[in-house]
Amino acid sequence: MSTPPHDLGIELRDLALVVGREAVTLARSMRESGIEVADTKSSAVDVVTAADRRCEELIRRRILTARPDDAILGEEGDDHPGTSAVRWVIDPIDGTVNYLYGLPDWAVSIAAEVEGEVVAGVVINGSSGVEYAAALGAGATRDGRPIAVRPSPPLAERLVLTGFGYRGDVRAHQGACVAALLPHVRDIRRLGSCALDLCHVADGSGDAYVEEGPQPWDYSAGALVLTEAGGRFGLLAGRLVEAVPGAASHGLATGAPAAGWDTFVEALRGAGFLA
Ligand code: IPD
Ligand code: CA
Ligand code: CA
Repeated sequence: MSTPPHDLGIELRDLALVVGREAVTLARSMRESGIEVADTKSSAVDVVTAADRRCEELIRRRILTARPDDAILGEEGDDHPGTSAVRWVIDPIDGTVNYLYGLPDWAVSIAAEVEGEVVAGVVINGSSGVEYAAALGAGATRDGRPIAVRPSPPLAERLVLTGFGYRGDVRAHQGACVAALLPHVRDIRRLGSCALDLCHVADGSGDAYVEEGPQPWDYSAGALVLTEAGGRFGLLAGRLVEAVPGAASHGLATGAPAAGWDTFVEALRGAGFLA
């Protein structure tokens, strides 16, 4: 049985769309006037541009003007506590390396939770302008039209999307697991944005997604788009923390059409992703 639509979810989704479009416009105009790396985070290749910061500031400002009591968790700023039941989870630019190089997969990703449950998700591809949106119980759309996952083909014909973190030792583990999965699937894609990867599975332009290491701002909005499109998303018990001392993990972020889930999880087990 599907979850009944959440009126607040629809309202928050619509606000996220308006704010997300504005952030995309800002990021594009900053790109046109030239970009450079402003800072680095976990490693020399984990970069932040001025656009990441300015877009997050804009999103925070717009949300708090509309809803001053809400809390905000954003990649580029401090946690903002709120007094309402709503918390926003923001990645101002997911796919910063693509944004920096002028590659097409980068997105503004905005999710809203009510008492910890994600009820709204918006992911806007900043390069193409394609908009993915979902509200809990109300379905998922791409540019306003309903989307659904494609039926899962046999494992050998599934196109699997994945990603890598910014630390070398984390990548060594992730790469070994992906290498073990590769012979069993159609192919692997590393497009560079977790949020868009999940939306690709949601609209059938990918068959599954797996990565251990992404943070809530990477996956929250895309995961709702996927589940509202008939897919399944989970944070499974992965092996990253055991395999790489000091690595942080929220679990093995996994997405697939519900009908193809069990087969995919078995393949992940066989490839060494699971604890
Ligand atoms: C990254 C992207 C990438 C994923 C990384 C994320 P960022 O986010 O989503 O696809 O593999 O784990 O950190 O740094 O571009 O916002
Ligand atoms: Ca991100
Ligand atoms: Ca980011």
